[in-house]
Amino acid sequence: MSVIDTEVSPAADLETPLKFAYWVPNVSGGLVVSTIEQRTGWDFEYNKRLARIAEDAGFEYALSQTRYAASYGADKQHEATAFTLGLLGATERLKIIAAVHPGMWHPGVLAKWLITADHISNGRAAVNIVSGWLKDEFVNFGLHDERYARTEEFITVLRGLLTQREFSFRGRHYDVSDFTLSPAPVDVPGRAHPEIFFGGNSTAAQAAAGRVADWYFSNGRSLEGFQENIAGVLASASSGARTAPVKPRFGINGFVIVRDSEREATDTLREIIAKAHRPAVEGFAAAVREAGRATQDGKGMWEDSTFEDLVQYNDGFRAGLIGTPEQVAERIVLLKKVGVNLVLTGYLHFQEEVEAFGRDVLPIVRELEADLAAANGRELDVALLPEVRQSVG
Ligand SMILES: Cc1cc2nc3c(=O)[nH]c(=O)nc-3n(C[C@H](O)[C@H](O)[C@H](O)COP(=O)(O)O)c2cc1C
Repeated sequence: MSVIDTEVSPAADLETPLKFAYWVPNVSGGLVVSTIEQRTGWDFEYNKRLARIAEDAGFEYALSQTRYAASYGADKQHEATAFTLGLLGATERLKIIAAVHPGMWHPGVLAKWLITADHISNGRAAVNIVSGWLKDEFVNFGLHDERYARTEEFITVLRGLLTQREFSFRGRHYDVSDFTLSPAPVDVPGRAHPEIFFGGNSTAAQAAAGRVADWYFSNGRSLEGFQENIAGVLASASSGARTAPVKPRFGINGFVIVRDSEREATDTLREIIAKAHRPAVEGFAAAVREAGRATQDGKGMWEDSTFEDLVQYNDGFRAGLIGTPEQVAERIVLLKKVGVNLVLTGYLHFQEEVEAFGRDVLPIVRELEADLAAANGRELDVALLPEVRQSVG
């Protein structure tokens, strides 16, 4: 499918420039479970420099990951909220999203953390509420979809505490009475409160995100797959049960391999897969297939993922961001046409490739976005474009 042939979805926001994020490598082993060379560090110094490169290159967000135990290629992990706070201190413009599991935190404690992080960073803190990658416990008890009932309550309480004084809530999981958090978050024009992202693919995840999330993050999928996820979230958002103040926006995960020729890019993908760490990928594949089956309708996140897909956690190859700068930029604008607002990216060699992405791909994306808006009688709002600077590293 080409940029020209694909219809513009009513969900597409043609005036607002696409936003770009990268996965913070705060766990070891890189973003692919493969023995291919990955010049990516997981330590704080590496990440500090990466964050500065990214904000200078035109990235607006970074997403840290939460994992507590070694699994699936990541033997060592740094805690997401602590790491996020460190990176906020080391940057000036980048918004950093900390991944958080509802089951591990009380929403009041997280709200307090988030407000403090927001003050330290002058309004740049955000959270990604994830119901859990390593979900054997939930799944084995048949509780997959139940996780989202808790997640939904968790976000309702979190948002209530971020925005209201004397907030009260009584639900199945949380009971809060007349609670006021002071100070309130930083007052940022155009932002109701620190942003609440939500990651998940299943039908239960889409329904919950449609009701409560500011942003819905999807795994890598085909274009049709993204369309399906977006439609699912929008259907839930328009069912009358949405409690979030603004309409949901959409982020998608994609693993980026940009090379001078298409051949080089696809050869790199082939090498990643040929050198995949088989036992780790197969172990994960078996676990998540079970998980998919445990959803009410059998449609979990990885329900149809192949071995190749799972070499990149979160199915990033499927987004198709593999090719020359022109090909990848075209593909990204195609995603915008179906309703995507933010592209979450991963790389083999983060520092080098984030910088190259800003230099080689983003200018083409901006041109194509402007053309797309004009072809539809609109105008790209260039005042919303992030500042791009010569990186000082
Ligand atoms: C962009 C994105 C980021 C995620 N980050 C994490 C994470 O840091 N830690 C985690 O345990 N799960 C993470 N997840 C996984 C979700 O918690 C959840 O397990 C997954 O989306 C499967 O949900 P499903 O079965 O409802 O499809 C992430 C998911 C997405 C889409």
